[in-house]
Amino acid sequence: MDKTNVKEAVRDKYSEAARRVTSGRATCCGAPSAASRCDPITSNLYDNAEKDALPDTAVLASLGCGNPTALAQLSAGEIVLDLGSGGGIDVLLSARRVGPTGKAYGLDMTDEMLALARENQRMAGVVNVEFLKGEIENIPLPDNSVDVIISNCVINLSGNKDRVLQEAFRVLKPGGRFAVSDVVTRGDVPAEIREKVLLWVGCIAGALRDDEYRDKLAKAGFQSIGIEPTRVYAVEDAREFLAGKGVDVDALAPQVEGKFMSAFIRAVKPVKEADKITEPACCAPGCCG
Ligand SMILES: C[S@@+](CC[C@H](N)C(=O)[O-])C[C@H]1O[C@@H](n2cnc3c(N)ncnc32)[C@H](O)[C@@H]1O
Repeated sequence: MDKTNVKEAVRDKYSEAARRVTSGRATCCGAPSAASRCDPITSNLYDNAEKDALPDTAVLASLGCGNPTALAQLSAGEIVLDLGSGGGIDVLLSARRVGPTGKAYGLDMTDEMLALARENQRMAGVVNVEFLKGEIENIPLPDNSVDVIISNCVINLSGNKDRVLQEAFRVLKPGGRFAVSDVVTRGDVPAEIREKVLLWVGCIAGALRDDEYRDKLAKAGFQSIGIEPTRVYAVEDAREFLAGKGVDVDALAPQVEGKFMSAFIRAVKPVKEADKITEPACCAPGCCG
């Protein structure tokens, strides 16, 4: 699939996922797959206190693979940007964490998801939130304007991950944090099996290997890079799907086990000397007093 087709396929998939939620056809965790049960990737990511404080449709639309706001250590007054905000669950949770002096932006390219997110915001009665239409490869915000970038299972969907990381770096303030949940792989997996398992996870454009993710973050300029697995998938989770694709699951289990995971990925945009605010030089006796 070329980059345009990847984007169209992603948009179609998530328009349909949003329609399932608004029409009451979503499953318990909003999974857009044909299966009517919760999948092991999107289910049980948020605790009850978080879910109870949100509209049901925000929880039902949750299609992430982690809980970035719980791990990002957000503080009052910060500006947060969620890349691929979907139905808005992490934006609404962030808005509460940063409080009335802070703000949470959600960015998404799918009209149906934006409409659902704005309706969820209205129902939640949260005002320090703005949902923007756009692509994570071209973030519609100025340079050095965001304290924290979060994202939940979206960067794997991009056909141009280098560009997404460059854009994240550009909009972060010096010292700003990248705090993202995403699917990553670890170690070598035969290409054909990798493709099938990633299709099961829903990674249309393909997840990065953890070492590739580190390299791309460093190439974009980030420092203090860390990748922590939060949920490692068992081959058993994907047995039905893989068997349906003609894969001999038992024979391949050793090549798959422990190699596909959701992870929390963190990094920092460094503060350069030129970014530091310096005290004005003392110009005359008494002027520094
Ligand atoms: C897997 S869902 C995750 C939604 C949300 N983060 C959550 O946790 O529920 C992916 C979302 O990212 C959006 N998306 C995917 N690729 C995008 C891109 N290149 N630019 C903007 N949005 C994108 C989709 O429209 C969809 O709403």
